Amino acid sequence: MGVTYLEPGSSQMGKKESIADTAKVLGRMFDGIEYRGFNQKIVEELAANSGVPVWNGLTDEFHPTQMLADLLTIEENFGTLKGVHFTFMGDARNNVGNSLMVACAKMGLNFTACSPKELFPKKELVDSCRQIAAESGSTITLTENVEEGTKNADVIYTDIWVSMGEPDDVWESRIKLLKPYQVNAQLMKNASERSIFMHCLPSFHDKNTQIGADIAKKFGLPEMEVTDEVFTSKRSVVFDEAENRLHTIKSVLYATLC
Ligand code: NVA
Repeated sequence: MGVTYLEPGSSQMGKKESIADTAKVLGRMFDGIEYRGFNQKIVEELAANSGVPVWNGLTDEFHPTQMLADLLTIEENFGTLKGVHFTFMGDARNNVGNSLMVACAKMGLNFTACSPKELFPKKELVDSCRQIAAESGSTITLTENVEEGTKNADVIYTDIWVSMGEPDDVWESRIKLLKPYQVNAQLMKNASERSIFMHCLPSFHDKNTQIGADIAKKFGLPEMEVTDEVFTSKRSVVFDEAENRLHTIKSVLYATLC
């Protein structure tokens, strides 16, 4: 299989050529298009106009391919998806938080978003996920209360506090909002005995990244959404999750191209 990478600056998509026209051109040349970028509307426009399979590799609103790897990892650990108690900690209205809520609703996991009210997912998405969850026999819960939100959870999942496309100046307010939602050893004790820790990566669990080091210096916070202790603990399955991206993406290609 041949792959051509179009980097942000190397096409006229949306600048001199409409997304719809670019989609039609690419559809004549390629068997499929993966879009990994910012705007969800762009991936939808590519899909509507290209005539070939279009895969959402991450947008500001959703991250569906990551979900497949995550669900596979959960199934590997618990032997089932249905009835698993899943808690997302942190910015629950980011791309990963949104997609996890959708994925859990569809597959029958009980989903809890544990985050400050300001960062709850949009009401319309919550409402439609609740409808889907009702059909799958599962629940969608939103709570600001960390103890309540993590009690007996089988999966504790978190993501970085500032997502792609957000300006650097939101760090300070986001840290203030989300510090109480950091995944640490104390929090994991409140989860179920069999609980696992998940993260889509990249993660700020130490100072070994440029941003991690800057934040530590500026705000005195050496770890952010998860402590290094939890990230490196036996309960952490983050690198199984990372590996499962490979297997599930291969399946997506097979299912849509073959
Ligand atoms: N919420 C993160 C996900 C990275 C895979 C981001 O958008 O940066």
